[in-house]
Amino acid sequence: MPLVNTKEMFLDAYNNHYAVGAFNVDSIAMIQAVLQAAENCSSPVIISLSKGSREFMHPGNIKEQILTVSKDITIPFAIHLDHGKSIELCKDCIDEGFTSVMIDASKYDFEENIRITKEVVDYAHERNVSVEGELSILTGEEDYPRLIEEFVKRTNVDSLAISIGTGHGTTKFKKGEIPKLKFHILEELERRLPSYPFVLHGSSSILKKDIDIFNEYGGDIKDPIGIPEDLLRKASHGPICKINIGTDFRVAYVGALRKSLSLIKDKYEPRNFLVPAKQAAQELVEYKLKNVFNSAYKIK
Ligand code: 13P
Repeated sequence: MPLVNTKEMFLDAYNNHYAVGAFNVDSIAMIQAVLQAAENCSSPVIISLSKGSREFMHPGNIKEQILTVSKDITIPFAIHLDHGKSIELCKDCIDEGFTSVMIDASKYDFEENIRITKEVVDYAHERNVSVEGELSILTGEEDYPRLIEEFVKRTNVDSLAISIGTGHGTTKFKKGEIPKLKFHILEELERRLPSYPFVLHGSSSILKKDIDIFNEYGGDIKDPIGIPEDLLRKASHGPICKINIGTDFRVAYVGALRKSLSLIKDKYEPRNFLVPAKQAAQELVEYKLKNVFNSAYKIK
């Protein structure tokens, strides 16, 4: 069965120097785009739902909805909760069949983050579900790798989102700033926690081609600047085993939707507008799997 948790996925990603893409979806069409792209590329993939997306898609039977549209899919995929902000939400998702959850207690102090994360880990592991935690830089950067090591050992969390310079949204760096990631932190983490899988959030590259379409057809994304692809390739080669993409995927989808709504004047069947949007989203995923995450053709 291709629906899996992320444990084996990340082990394979670490050993074979690639990262698994996690794409933020809002609808069945977007899920189909992600799964078909991954199938075409023989790549593992993660379907990522935020609290809001899950509510939009009807909590309680998300797993069944996804299984219905994944009957012909053979690559391994996980259903993941992105940024679960409470223990209750994580437990609900685990109970309804998600195979991976993120408990994001990063707004709390170190000890409270550990307590909350550990409670979710204990619950999830009894049910064969994997857990991602998050620890941001709390004090000085020098202390960060040591705190991460302690956090991972005390919580037994399966993967951890870390801050090395990425950020959510369409403007990730100030005007004139040279985009960079803190690879020295990753190197130290690899020494302290060999083969442990780390996660990068906020990793869209904010692709010019898609931003141009989005803006040409009535959108208004200002100051677009994302994470350069060569930095993501380098991170994927090392201990970054999961990379989150929300913005690039959504901009590709909505940009294509804007374009078809603007250009097609004489039709009103929604599929005439939704099919190009889904196609653009699928192409975006295939592009990332092949050219950035190095995960294509890893499933034999
Ligand atoms: P982007 O906004 O860079 O796509 O990041 C998405 C993300 O990290 C979701 O958790």
